[in-house]
Amino acid sequence: MCRVGEQFDPVAHNRAAWDREVASDNEWTRPVGPEVVARARAGDWSVVLIGYEPVPRDWFPAELAGTAMLCLASGGGQQGPVLAAAGADVTVFDNSPAQLARDEEVAAREGLAIRTVLGDMRDLGAFPSARFDVIVNPVSNVFCPELAPVWRESFRVLRPGGVLMEYSHTLTEQIGGQLAAGFVLTHLVEAPHHADATARYMPGYFATRAVKPADPA
Ligand SMILES: C[S@@+](CC[C@H](N)C(=O)[O-])C[C@H]1O[C@@H](n2cnc3c(N)ncnc32)[C@H](O)[C@@H]1O
Repeated sequence: MCRVGEQFDPVAHNRAAWDREVASDNEWTRPVGPEVVARARAGDWSVVLIGYEPVPRDWFPAELAGTAMLCLASGGGQQGPVLAAAGADVTVFDNSPAQLARDEEVAAREGLAIRTVLGDMRDLGAFPSARFDVIVNPVSNVFCPELAPVWRESFRVLRPGGVLMEYSHTLTEQIGGQLAAGFVLTHLVEAPHHADATARYMPGYFATRAVKPADPA
């Protein structure tokens, strides 16, 4: 257990935990293979946010070339390399050095330009305001004690018109929190949690697409 003074430190705890997941080959730390990258280069690509469900293609801009994409808490060599091979200008931000090393491995193997940045998703101070067109945030904010700073920072680093895609907490924190930060929700989809018995009764995962309005109120 990682503690700051007497307080539990979720960032240190999750950093060590995800570094261990990489060492034990958890499936969400396993990088994509060369065939996936080759297909993405040819325009045939998809990425997941929740479970094994591909994100609908129309959640992304029609043309990825030149799209500044932040893969937020998305290490593991999965979404980042696929989106980079499909033409996006990709930055992968994650709290686990070992997860980021997965993206670096694929980038080196495939000759892809991917920036990796280590940090806590509540603080995107490494980036200037309006730096990105799209933020892709797969299953991860369940590891984060508070979401308001994540939405605030995501809103700040997106350009007006930019898009945020993400994942689970309470609906008030997830959806209410995005609305409070100024986002406009455009899509919501659900999927069963693959390893959860309650999946028979309720979906467990949901993903949203939200836009930073061109003229924020
Ligand atoms: C389930 S994995 C998601 C990435 C994976 N590529 C996927 O598709 O599911 C969760 C990720 O969240 C990262 N993470 C956990 N807490 C974080 C935080 N506070 N800030 C940034 N990343 C965090 C972990 O290091 C891990 O890489």
